[in-house]
This record gives sequence, structure tokens and C-alpha cells, in this order.
Amino acid sequence: MDAIRAVNLTKVYQGKAEVEALKCINLSIKSGQLYTLLGPNGAGKTTFLKIVSTQLLPTSGEAYLLGYDVVKQPEKVRRHIAVVPQDSIAYHNLTPWEYAYYFAKLYGVPSPKVKAHAELALKTVDIWHLKDRACGSLSGGEQKRAIIASALSSNASILMLDEPTSGLDAIARRHVWESLTKIVKDGKTIILTTHIMEEAEMVSDRLAIMNKGKLVAEGTREEIKSLSKEKFRVVLEGKIENNDLFKDGSRVARFGNKSILFFNSLNESLKVVERALAKGLKAEASPITLEDVFVDLIGSDLVGNQNH
Ligand SMILES: Nc1ncnc2c1ncn2[C@@H]1O[C@H](COP(=O)(O)OP(=O)(O)OP(=O)(O)O)[C@@H](O)[C@H]1O
Ligand SMILES: [Mg+2]
Repeated sequence: MDAIRAVNLTKVYQGKAEVEALKCINLSIKSGQLYTLLGPNGAGKTTFLKIVSTQLLPTSGEAYLLGYDVVKQPEKVRRHIAVVPQDSIAYHNLTPWEYAYYFAKLYGVPSPKVKAHAELALKTVDIWHLKDRACGSLSGGEQKRAIIASALSSNASILMLDEPTSGLDAIARRHVWESLTKIVKDGKTIILTTHIMEEAEMVSDRLAIMNKGKLVAEGTREEIKSLSKEKFRVVLEGKIENNDLFKDGSRVARFGNKSILFFNSLNESLKVVERALAKGLKAEASPITLEDVFVDLIGSDLVGNQNH
């Protein structure tokens, strides 16, 4: 059974100017996976999550959650989902413990298990030591973790998390990713959005890349990476005097005194590493990353990528 199925899903926001936020999206997300939606700001990720979690009506098309129509059977849909919105703010007077505890109760976790659910959720995101502080007195990242814990403590089979790790420090992010992968192993489905490509690449079973309301790519990380014509990247550090290190036409991205060069073949990239090292530059070759493909697919002018 598909956790989510979208058929020609379209959303046009009406206002001073019409915004076509989703343009005929067709997408199936299988149960039991960690599924990541990627895309630049304004791509339509939040709009998609809001529609499939019954917070927003589509303009046309259909969406089903575990086979239930999100427009015609919203009550059924809501019984199976827990949502962490992008802009979620914790109730200031509630403590993380109360959050996790009430969510478990609200979702019908059997009474003898409620405390255990709440405890596990709070420990999972590493805020057990803060469980009795008012959320209003916690830092932004700590509040976010309290909200994630509440979703974890529910017994919903599908979790939808819109940028769950934004604003979290590196250690907290690892805790969250680790817990999310654990939850998926236990049989739940997670659909999330993030802008942190490296982490998305590590944890996701499948990913979709959206841009301007359309699906640009969908598949496993390997399937998505295979869309790139280049297979290897070389990072050079130091001043490149001229382009004699690489052929004209190679794709190059520059960041300060670092440059990333992209190549089709391992041979080609190793040759460049050799030549760069001989010139006293620092050089490192590796396979391309999901972020490289993302930048390639979405368009690169915003990140200083230039063609030579
Ligand atoms: N309530 C609204 N009214 C009008 N337009 C909206 C509304 N909400 C979103 N939009 C527009 O719809 C498009 C998609 O927005 P959405 O929030 O789904 O993007 P996103 O992929 O989640 O972006 P981000 O990464 O910044 O969170 C954008 O162009 C946005 O400006
Ligand atoms: Mg968003």
C-alpha cells in the first residue's frame, strides 16, 4: 500500500497575484520508507505536505494517504499522521514532558504505554534532562526538539516533518536523524523536507527533487545521481592561475579559494589531481554528491557556478 499517492496534484494560491505552487504532481511514496523532498525555496515542498496532511485543499488533482482521499476523508487521514510544520512554535507554558505525554494520549497510545512512549521520544532527541522546563524558557533548537519528540511519541504510522533539523546544532541533528532512521526500521513511514543535502543523502531511502512546483527527479540517491553526466568531483584549494589544469568546457564551481571541478571519468579526475598536486595545490577526488546533482538540475547561477 502506498503511504501517499498524488495524482495530477495542483495548487494555485489566489491572492494579489496567482501562484502556481504545485503543477500536476504525480508521486507515490511507499510505506516503511524515509522519503525526502528536496527543492529550493519556494519549490512547493511545504504546499505538498500541507495538502497531504489535510491542512490545505488542492486546486485540482487528487491525493491519497494509505488509500484515504485527503479531501473526502480528512478525519481518516488525520488518524494516521503526525505533523511537524516548518514554522512550528512550542506552547511556552508546556514542558517537553507534557508535550510528549499529551501527544501520546491524544493519539490513543494505550494508557500503560503512554509514559514509556513519552520518555523514549524525549530521550531520542536528547532533551530528557530538560523535560520539566517550560518550553518558553528553552532555546529555539531545544523547542524544536520538544516538538519533534511530541510527533515521535504519537503512534501515528506516518510522520511528516517539514525541515525538522533546521535551526538545530550538528549534534542535535545527528540525534534526530538517528532517531528517524530507527523509527523507519520499526515500520513507520517518514516524509520530510530538508536543505541539508549531505544528511538527506545519508538517511533517505528515496528522494524527490522539486522545482517551481514540478517534480524534477525521483528515486534512490543512486538513481538521482545517475542523472548527472559527470560522475566525479575534484576539489582544488589554492589559486588556479589559468585553466591549464582542466579542459575548456569542464563544469567548475568556485567558492573563495576553493574550486570544484566535475569529470565524467575517474581517469580524467585523477590526472587533474596529479597535475594540481605537482603545482603545489591541495587536491582531492571523490564521487559526485547529491548536492552536485541538485545544483546541476536546478540551475547554478545562484551559487557561483561558472562554465569555462
Ligand atoms: N499562502 C500562500 N499564498 C500565496 N502564495 C503562497 C502561499 N504559501 C506559499 N506560497 C507560494 O507558493 C510557492 C511554494 O511555496 P512553499 O512554501 O510550498 O515552498 P517550499 O518548497 O516549502 O519552500 P521553502 O524551502 O522556502 O520552505 C512559493 O512561490 C510561495 O511564495
Ligand atoms: Mg517550506
